[in-house]
Amino acid sequence: MNVPVLTIDGPSGAGKGTVSRSVAKKLAWHYLDSGSIYRSLAIAVLDESVDLQDIDKIVAIAKNLNLEFECGDELIVKLNKVDITARLPSEATGNTASIIAAYPEVRAVLLQKQKDFQQAPGLVADGRDMGTVVFPSAETKVFLTASAEERASRRYKQLKEKGINANLVRITKEIEARDRRDQQRETAPLKASDDAFYIDSSNLSIDQVIEEVMNLVHNES
Ligand code: DC
Repeated sequence: MNVPVLTIDGPSGAGKGTVSRSVAKKLAWHYLDSGSIYRSLAIAVLDESVDLQDIDKIVAIAKNLNLEFECGDELIVKLNKVDITARLPSEATGNTASIIAAYPEVRAVLLQKQKDFQQAPGLVADGRDMGTVVFPSAETKVFLTASAEERASRRYKQLKEKGINANLVRITKEIEARDRRDQQRETAPLKASDDAFYIDSSNLSIDQVIEEVMNLVHNES
């Protein structure tokens, strides 16, 4: 049976997480937050104080990554049975994730873990290379973006709401650096797949984006 997939790719802070979770809920489909897999690996790597140049060690950790996802209203992620959800959003985790995600050997190990999420009745997959690499034959592909300033200001608010200390200027710089790294890496760089619908959310509310994505899914099915 062909399980339908909706991919939502785009840069950090474009609203992919909120939109994907909401659309998955409306469709009663499964949800893959692929960034959280890279972020969880980053936490495992940071906890073992591994040198970020030591690809062999990072690959070994990736191969043994023991992750559990509990999808309720909020996504709960456990690493080796320990709840690491609160540690996922930090800038340190995101930046480390972006660095280790540039290694093709690491991406290869994490590929199957992501494909395993394709289960009936359907999947909403959120990330950077969902439509280009992980689910190239997805029925509906969206590339969701927004200006770097807008994304930085949204991330700043999100972190503040979670009680995490944040600095807007630094976040803007980090977002720009992360964009560059994610776009310029050789393996699975962040780019819109030719068959993706491009949505710029800079001047749209989250609800408008959700509506647009829902329309796309209904038109494709
Ligand atoms: O979406 P996010 O901010 O949680 O992702 C964190 C980092 O993980 C991002 O900077 C690059 C990497 N990533 C990736 O390379 N491929 C994905 N499909 C998802 C995330």
